[in-house]
Amino acid sequence: MGFYFSSNAIEELKSQVNIVDVVSRAVSLKRAGANFKGCCPFHNEKTPSFVVSEQKQIFTCFGCGAKGDLIGFVQKYYNLDFNDAVAKLGEEYGLNLEKIQSGPDKQKYYDINKMAASFWYNSFTKEKNMGYQYMKERGISDAILKTFGIGYADESWDSLYQYLLSKKVDPKDMVELGLVKKKDSRYYDKFRNRVMFPIINPSGKVIGFGGRAIGDDTPKYLNSDESLIFLKKNNLYGLNLSKNQIKDNIILVEGYMDVIGLYQGGIKNVAASLGTALTQNQAKLIKRYTSDVVLSYDADSAGRNAALRGIEVLTAENIKTKVLHVTDGKDPDEFIKKKGKDAFLKLVDNAVPQIEYRLNSVKGNLNLSKDTDKIEYIKRCAKVLNTLSPVEADIYVKKLASVLKVSESAIKMELMGKSIIDTPQVKQQKDENKEEISPIEKNILKILFTNEDFLPKILDNRKMMESRFSNKILDLALENKVSLKNVQDMLDPEESILLNKILDEVKIGGNEEKVFDESVSRWRLKELTKEEKEILTLLSMADEKENQANMKELTLKLEEIQREKNKLSRG
Ligand code: GTP
Ligand code: MN
Repeated sequence: MGFYFSSNAIEELKSQVNIVDVVSRAVSLKRAGANFKGCCPFHNEKTPSFVVSEQKQIFTCFGCGAKGDLIGFVQKYYNLDFNDAVAKLGEEYGLNLEKIQSGPDKQKYYDINKMAASFWYNSFTKEKNMGYQYMKERGISDAILKTFGIGYADESWDSLYQYLLSKKVDPKDMVELGLVKKKDSRYYDKFRNRVMFPIINPSGKVIGFGGRAIGDDTPKYLNSDESLIFLKKNNLYGLNLSKNQIKDNIILVEGYMDVIGLYQGGIKNVAASLGTALTQNQAKLIKRYTSDVVLSYDADSAGRNAALRGIEVLTAENIKTKVLHVTDGKDPDEFIKKKGKDAFLKLVDNAVPQIEYRLNSVKGNLNLSKDTDKIEYIKRCAKVLNTLSPVEADIYVKKLASVLKVSESAIKMELMGKSIIDTPQVKQQKDENKEEISPIEKNILKILFTNEDFLPKILDNRKMMESRFSNKILDLALENKVSLKNVQDMLDPEESILLNKILDEVKIGGNEEKVFDESVSRWRLKELTKEEKEILTLLSMADEKENQANMKELTLKLEEIQREKNKLSRG
């Protein structure tokens, strides 16, 4: 298990230990004004140019440029890393410094994976084997096989196990990494007769493997088990190579072979999401290198759904996203083999921006020459457009209007209808789904349990109580007409604990009336601000000529809201 010192510990050390004292143990110092001077221990000198400031708690050498604080001095002088330097000082000065466990040592696991990778690489390259033959049949050159470190796990039950054992690797660690399985106290290799693809993270560590069956064995692909160092959701296959090849965008594909195929075909800005739907963490990882992604998934329905899901995840990270589906061949690997680099680049050029892709995908089987289908389609489009900024929405409203031969205002009305009025059903659902208890609600609960007489007033403002929890309490209080002391007994144990915690935390100091009024105002202000924003969005989207009446109504409403807001924030 590794550890590091908490920032409190570092603060404590620095406040307790004087740098002059520490340096004096190694260097003979003489006072010179406010500072101390001596001969620099880090380079050879006769006249002292090494200065220690007691006030600033740092050292500087004007001869060689060495400088730092107390810990820096100990690191440099005793040749220690940061942790060890802090530990040494803590020990010498009798301080009990707070340590934080940082979990098991990952490096050990990286090393074991690296041994496995080179073992399989040797089997792949040193003698005739089915893995190499298979990859050659798929047209991959020796150079590319080497670039990706492709290996071969042979047919034996335990060749990797025996190899790692001879390297003194603990079988427990092999199992932990999912390289080896254990059954009835016998160990056997997980990957047998497979082409092995090492998965390497952007810092160059082998974190796991994919193994492809040779021929029709199932499963077609087998991955390392998830472990401390291998979480599929945090990594992308091929990014270790492609991160240096990104000029503007990166192309995301589904599979190992797509990455390798495109890379060999000269499209090197490519990575794959390891056979799972793209995750938020993967999007964040991509964002370190580019904000421009082209999704190139299979054209089947699984690939289309993966693209829609990918769009959602990527746009949430503000990544510009386009989609292409290869037309000739089932996947990018087959396509580039058949058609070549330029044809693929053409597909990239013609990739569809995510909004258009989503608008197309909601079309489904609708027949747009039928009026009822057209209306349904506009409704579906409105849902997509409602997720856009007003400016974006405006552009696509115009496009849609011209394609569908309906007026822009009709589409805008559809948009407005969706956002301005929640149907009672939707509203109820929203309320029911809310788990979080707002500070306002906590205040009100405290008031209620301090003074039961507030119940009617609270019920008059029941909308403030948005969480399921608060509503349960109000329902109990109301329906059972019991005293509030009994309400607490009727809650589930966890709820009762939660309530006690809230009542403990919230302090109102006998000012129920005042806190109640303030809470109501605060809540009202929040609601008004929400409404104001909604109306401003609608106004920005409306067409001055076509939606005159509507705009007038919205403007009046806006003025009213702003008046009330002013009054509230003044009061
Ligand atoms: P090839 O047939 O070798 O060209 O594979 P592919 O990359 O075309 O595979 P496919 O489109 O069938 O699958 C895409 C990706 O999904 C693969 O690269 C794997 O990452 C993953 N995948 C496919 N089949 C399996 C499977 O059986 N198990 C697991 N865990 N992943 C799979
Ligand atoms: Mn394929």
